[in-house]
Amino acid sequence: MSKSLTLKLAVNGASHELTVEPRVTLLDALREHLGLTGSKKGCDQGQCGACTVHVDGERVLACLTLAAQAEGRAVTTIEGLTPEGADLHPVQAAFLSHDAFQCGYCTPGQIMSAVACIKEGHAGSDAEIREYMSGNLCRCGAYPHIVAAVRQAKEVMS
Ligand code: FES
Ligand code: FES
Repeated sequence: MSKSLTLKLAVNGASHELTVEPRVTLLDALREHLGLTGSKKGCDQGQCGACTVHVDGERVLACLTLAAQAEGRAVTTIEGLTPEGADLHPVQAAFLSHDAFQCGYCTPGQIMSAVACIKEGHAGSDAEIREYMSGNLCRCGAYPHIVAAVRQAKEVMS
């Protein structure tokens, strides 16, 4: 068995120390060690986007990132998108008003990608939104509603 590592992770503004095996992914560290189950495990192979989080403000697939790679960086999950007690983030509000989900399994990842899409300036057109969001799969086929929600949120955020 490989030797465990003790890591300090900054997640949603709070610092956590955890002891994990070196091969533990950021997704498993968040879900199983820190109890942050908002980030979903769909494929665990980088193909569905359900595990999307932000690291230093950029979106990453937490299932393809080692927990150790996130040490010393600021991790944000869907739970930390807005401060506790604050209103919904404009992207969350837009997903609600456009019914941009059905089962909701892909939704945290969609929202984290959508926030990055808008902040990085890739929400200029529906085609651009679809292209940027293409790594976030939705088995329920809510894509037209998701694009509409991103478009609305972009107006609010710009
Ligand atoms: S769980 Fe990470 S991309 Fe599917
Ligand atoms: S809302 Fe069900 S997978 Fe997207």
